[in-house]
Amino acid sequence: MIPQATSFILALATLLESTLASDNGLALTPQMGWNTWNTFACNINEDTILGAAKALKELKLDEYGYHYVVMDDCWSLHQRNATGYLQYDPVKFPKGIKHLADEIHALGLGFGMYSSAGRYTCGRYPGSLNFEEKDADLFAEWEVDYLKYDNCHNEGQSGTPLISYNRYEVMSRALNKTGRPILYSMCNWGEDSPWDWAPTIANSWRMSGDIVNVFDRYDDRCPCDDYICRLPGHHCSIMNIINKAAPLGQKAHTGAWNDLDMLEIGNDNLDYEEQKLHFSIWAMVKSPLIMGHDIMHTSKQTLEILTNKDIIDLSQGNWGVAYRSYKKEHSQLWLQDAKDKSGNIVVALINNGNKDDDFTINFEDIFLDEWDRRKVGYKVMDLWTKEDLGVVKHKLKVKVKRHGIFVGKLAFAGDPSLKPKVKKYHAEPDEL
Ligand code: GAL
Repeated sequence: MIPQATSFILALATLLESTLASDNGLALTPQMGWNTWNTFACNINEDTILGAAKALKELKLDEYGYHYVVMDDCWSLHQRNATGYLQYDPVKFPKGIKHLADEIHALGLGFGMYSSAGRYTCGRYPGSLNFEEKDADLFAEWEVDYLKYDNCHNEGQSGTPLISYNRYEVMSRALNKTGRPILYSMCNWGEDSPWDWAPTIANSWRMSGDIVNVFDRYDDRCPCDDYICRLPGHHCSIMNIINKAAPLGQKAHTGAWNDLDMLEIGNDNLDYEEQKLHFSIWAMVKSPLIMGHDIMHTSKQTLEILTNKDIIDLSQGNWGVAYRSYKKEHSQLWLQDAKDKSGNIVVALINNGNKDDDFTINFEDIFLDEWDRRKVGYKVMDLWTKEDLGVVKHKLKVKVKRHGIFVGKLAFAGDPSLKPKVKKYHAEPDEL
């Protein structure tokens, strides 16, 4: 090879590496899987994680897209070793992390790891700040497929988007440098507006403080009801997170997703209606769908919710990211456009009031910008009951249970020659 050509290729490769930091080809659709934290917190070990991986497989959840088994905080010793590497806790993991990864891979699943862009993790184990390359190398050696990267103990390195970007970008680069595709799941709780700067370095970013297993409640530990928040906190209810996430969908695109936090489906407290609502909106806004229940004890009802193929399709299929049409005192209307030219649209009506109710959804509130589309009829299918609701014109009437959701797919019902043109108002970044 001519030396000049070699150096040109090397320079190009370096340039590509530095400009396409998040281009690891992963999370083309929002990642799906299971994480230890919501059920087990720090009580994890090889048995809990392998047991969960086997349960995921036995329940055939992998066939619905649930792929990653993610180990959260509290897996390491409190000290790095003499050469500065993280050490796993040998009591929790007697055969080591590589062995755990091998077992999970043998099941055909991906293995997720956790660290923090801080001196310590939130559980006060060593964090990766200033050790990014060492830790990324170790994770790659253990054949990790996914890194959840937290924000605790960041030693004041936050407060402006650029400060946070610089801190998180170091790990992005370190992961890429390993040569192993590792999904990069940022967890800085929406601090410094990650939706503005994370898409070029990460596959997803948390946009809120931690979720709690409560439908709707103000809690001083999660003081913000807006997405710009100086204290994201924890104990954020499902409706609190939904309200914060509503305007952010426009920032998500292929390989770069808003993360509304792990699912609370199958944990105590939320009723059946609340869980269906939670799952539907997480899928529609294309949040990662990471289960957080005790998967080894999954009930029939939990499985039924988590495996609703029509709802999963809203996350993984050919649909744009959902947006909210309106928010009233006791209801919200959400919309999700098909990405093809079919003109299909998904309409979701949330009833966050305290009684079952009847709602009329006017086409003006569905076809916000396209007058012609308001004039034709649509076939409606309920994506939870699978009922065919016939053809509707001008408006759609639905009954929605207290704290429940109606999710319906509308498909053009008339003579194809009369079908109104579907306009495209703006291309998503991946389509440019
Ligand atoms: C929080 C994070 C949680 C969990 C926890 C572990 O900061 O948002 O999802 O990872 O730390 O300590």
